[in-house]
Amino acid sequence: MGRFVQFLWSSLACGVACVASEDCAGADCSDASAVLQHKTKAKGRSTHSHSGRECSKPYPFIWDNDANYDDTLALLYLAHSENLDWKAITIESDGMGTPHGGPTNIAAAASLVGLGDVPIAMGGLSSLSPIATMPLQWRLETDEFFERMFRGGILDETDSAIVDLTAAQLIVKILTESACPVVILTTGPATNVAEALDMDPSIAGNIHGIYMMGSAYGVPGTNNVYDWQMTYNGVKGSCTEDGGQTYTGLSPPLNRSGVVSAIRPECRGVDMTAHGDTEWNVFMDVRAWHMVYGFLKDLPADHVYVLAANATLNMPVTLEEMEEYAARRSMQAKCKLRVLRVVLHVAIQFQRQAATLADPGLRIFVTELAKAFLAAGEAKWWDAQCAVVMDQVLSGLKQGVCSNWFEDKLTSVSLVWRSNLTDGELNPYGSVYDDADAHAPPIDYCLDGNVTQMWEVYWPMVNQTG
Ligand SMILES: *[C@@H]1O[C@H](CO)[C@@H](O)[C@H](O)[C@H]1NC(C)=O
Ligand SMILES: *[C@@H]1O[C@H](CO)[C@@H](O)[C@H](O)[C@H]1NC(C)=O
Ligand SMILES: *[C@@H]1O[C@H](CO)[C@@H](O)[C@H](O)[C@H]1NC(C)=O
Ligand SMILES: *[C@@H]1O[C@H](CO)[C@@H](O)[C@H](O)[C@H]1NC(C)=O
Repeated sequence: MGRFVQFLWSSLACGVACVASEDCAGADCSDASAVLQHKTKAKGRSTHSHSGRECSKPYPFIWDNDANYDDTLALLYLAHSENLDWKAITIESDGMGTPHGGPTNIAAAASLVGLGDVPIAMGGLSSLSPIATMPLQWRLETDEFFERMFRGGILDETDSAIVDLTAAQLIVKILTESACPVVILTTGPATNVAEALDMDPSIAGNIHGIYMMGSAYGVPGTNNVYDWQMTYNGVKGSCTEDGGQTYTGLSPPLNRSGVVSAIRPECRGVDMTAHGDTEWNVFMDVRAWHMVYGFLKDLPADHVYVLAANATLNMPVTLEEMEEYAARRSMQAKCKLRVLRVVLHVAIQFQRQAATLADPGLRIFVTELAKAFLAAGEAKWWDAQCAVVMDQVLSGLKQGVCSNWFEDKLTSVSLVWRSNLTDGELNPYGSVYDDADAHAPPIDYCLDGNVTQMWEVYWPMVNQTG
């Protein structure tokens, strides 16, 4: 999603018109209020109980994340939530943050907001179903941003909170030992959570609630995995035949005019812009999402919450110059502009709000984050939105920053990959679909967001004035 945005931003910033080669997920620009199929399910089919123990707030809490800008934004908010008793931060190595840089970057940010003592565990090196990663260049840029913060003395370099246990081991340990059920927020590919559940499936019984950022569930056309994201500077590599980062050179490795090469164009020969029906956190580890759903299948209703891609699209159109720009564009370009408006709106709010933060260190950090956002388009707020939605649910305010829930849905995550697709046919891989026979718990999907409320809630919390 962020890379789509980045593309738009750089196109505009450079005064280059949006090229028409990237479309809007193969759909037209109509609002995504498409006809949706509902399949509801009776609540409370499971009999899990937590021995009637008196467990009240704050809830033991594990935050599993992929150390991106938006994860950092989530952290700035979560650090002040009175609902959470921080037990661990686990880092996904197969998302945006690099395996080595992500953990220390988040350690530094955690230290800035007073969470320097929370144990941080590094994740396994690979997705459980490697097919695509964020292009290495983007991942390195995130590290470079944090390194600038270190050099500038804004953040302290530290690895003191990083433990020897793997992310999965730490999750198992906490869930096993915690006297009270644990809240988990996962804002990445969910690999660590899947590995933990695989290691000890019984830990599912000690989950108070799990909140996941991802999927293109519920609203057709909200796929955000695009073909252009498979390349960077014309170099292919983020979706390769073996799923790893196999190529990071400066010229394209593939001679498209017919010479045999290690990789096919697009994603294993599939144009994800035209045929994708997924979202990056799911796409990066479809098996992990599939496993998490399966291992949690006995959890009763109101335990698993997923913020789907559509909820992150709901932004007001406020920038007149963008309107004007949009008017000159084709239908396809308008799709991109809708996302661009989102970025600009967020970025402007961001800088304005950041300037009013009381704490000087935080103010500089947040302002620099905003600059990185504007320069790279990568500091998107999807994870921060998921964090706020979780916090509101824990506070009994389910209807809030999430303004439309599809509740108790029985859904499956498709592992099926199809390469030979006709026009308009979607590749099932990574799609989440209604399925009465799903090997999954009833899940509440958030499909729409209230932006007004997001700003009302997010900034005062970050600034400690709320
Ligand atoms: C690409 O392949 C064509 C033959 O199909 C060849 O003529 C051309 O030199 C190749 N280009 C590069 C850069 O290797
Ligand atoms: C999907 O998001 C759009 C805004 O981007 C919103 O208008 C629509 O109502 C949402 N769909 C659902 C089912 O909530
Ligand atoms: C793709 O499917 C079509 C039929 O829909 C078939 O004719 C064609 O041979 C297939 N291509 C490959 C590479 O399997
Ligand atoms: C969005 O939030 C604002 C501010 O909290 C509230 O006034 C408004 O009613 C909400 N809108 C919806 C659709 O829930």
